[in-house]
Amino acid sequence: MSDKKVLLEIPNLDEKVELSIHSGTLGQEVVDIAPLAKKGLFTFDPGFVATASCESKITFIDGENGILLYRGYPIEQLAEKSDYLEVCYLLMNGELPSPEQKQKFTRQILNHTMVHEQIHKFFTGFRRDAHPMSVMVGTVGALSSFYHDALDITQPEHREIAALRLIAKMPTLAAMCYKYYIGQPFTYPQNDLSYSENFLYMMFSVPSEKWQPNPVLAKAMDRIFILHADHEQNASTSTVRLAGSSGANPFACIASGIAALWGPAHGGANEAVLDMLMEIGDVKNIPKYIEKARDRNDPFRLMGFGHRVYKNYDPRAKVMRETCHEVLKEVGKTNDPLLEIALELERYALEDEYFIEKKLYPNVDFYSGITLNAIGIPVNMFTVIFALARAVGWVTHWNEMVSTPGFRIGRPRQLYTGHDQRDYIDENNR
Ligand code: ACO
Repeated sequence: MSDKKVLLEIPNLDEKVELSIHSGTLGQEVVDIAPLAKKGLFTFDPGFVATASCESKITFIDGENGILLYRGYPIEQLAEKSDYLEVCYLLMNGELPSPEQKQKFTRQILNHTMVHEQIHKFFTGFRRDAHPMSVMVGTVGALSSFYHDALDITQPEHREIAALRLIAKMPTLAAMCYKYYIGQPFTYPQNDLSYSENFLYMMFSVPSEKWQPNPVLAKAMDRIFILHADHEQNASTSTVRLAGSSGANPFACIASGIAALWGPAHGGANEAVLDMLMEIGDVKNIPKYIEKARDRNDPFRLMGFGHRVYKNYDPRAKVMRETCHEVLKEVGKTNDPLLEIALELERYALEDEYFIEKKLYPNVDFYSGITLNAIGIPVNMFTVIFALARAVGWVTHWNEMVSTPGFRIGRPRQLYTGHDQRDYIDENNR
């Protein structure tokens, strides 16, 4: 916080309003506009383009320079040197764990990987062809009805156990969505496997066959989890915060985050990227699609390009690009036609003046879709995997908000442009 001020002159008001300017550790300064409400004025910022909705210590993004830090650590270093559970600990606790802390945390997660047996029955209420994201919204929300012992959000221990349960159970629920969809039996977690191996095991093993983890694919999965673990105040995290600001329980809040993530402008983009690459079908069709993306009268957008915050190469996309090549080599798909289209599309877009002028670079979803596809994950599970990985970010933001003394319910205002007050018209006179 600083003591800088800005004076705002308001027409029809004799005085000037003094607004404080706050600065954080990094990033833009913010003008504290709270005093305006006392003067009968609100600010107007649809899409929250210029609004900091909260103070946070978890994640920092510098979109102009393509920087992403979790608790101060660059994403590239974490992706190379850390693992997902360590990143979860870091996000939740603010510091990297000591070896003992890491061991204890891992043990705590492993203790909670199974879901209540009755949740199995809950699944069978869904149609087999239900989109796995709809099943995730339902089943994660339903966790609130299974863990009544720790739903007092005023208790830090309850909040912690809810977070651990969530991180531990997300892979189990995600894999169950897939198994239910394809009609195979659910696979119980195997706690001697790593977090990402366990997820692949629950996804791809069947009772009739032996299953061996593939270290390259497990590492790629772990990286995907790390890269998606948090991304400060995006649409789904803000949704979780807003839902949580009313005092709702964490599982209900995370379910609201999953719903927000589902949209193609957010987490649904990785699914949309693959659909788009398949639709393009051949590198020779790329110019036509670039033209469509440039055309303001055509709603088509290049999926996996552009970002509200990154106006430079998404640092996660750089890491994902490398992982994508490792996975394709491992599964023997180096000549993958989708990759060929993706690389050519990227080359075109990076040289095209429309994309350069609008600072539209590939985002993380551009490569994660191809990677997940090569691992054998079906397209409709892509956003579920994003949700699985992001659960730690959501719950950490929720916890940060709930544990801040004096937190208040979030309640945006509006610019009303509807009818003026009018009298009810009798049915016969309409
Ligand atoms: N293809 C073509 N043009 C685009 C694209 C794109 N992918 N993205 C933005 N533009 C254009 C817009 O048409 C707009 O043009 P205009 O100035 O002529 O009106 C300009 O660039 C700015 O775009 P906005 O939509 O205003 O930018 P905003 O910050 O609101 O949207 C978003 C960001 C939603 C990510 C957008 O770039 C998009 O739709 N991208 C494709 C979907 C996608 O990949 N989403 C994943 C985001 S990353 C994540 O969630 C992990």
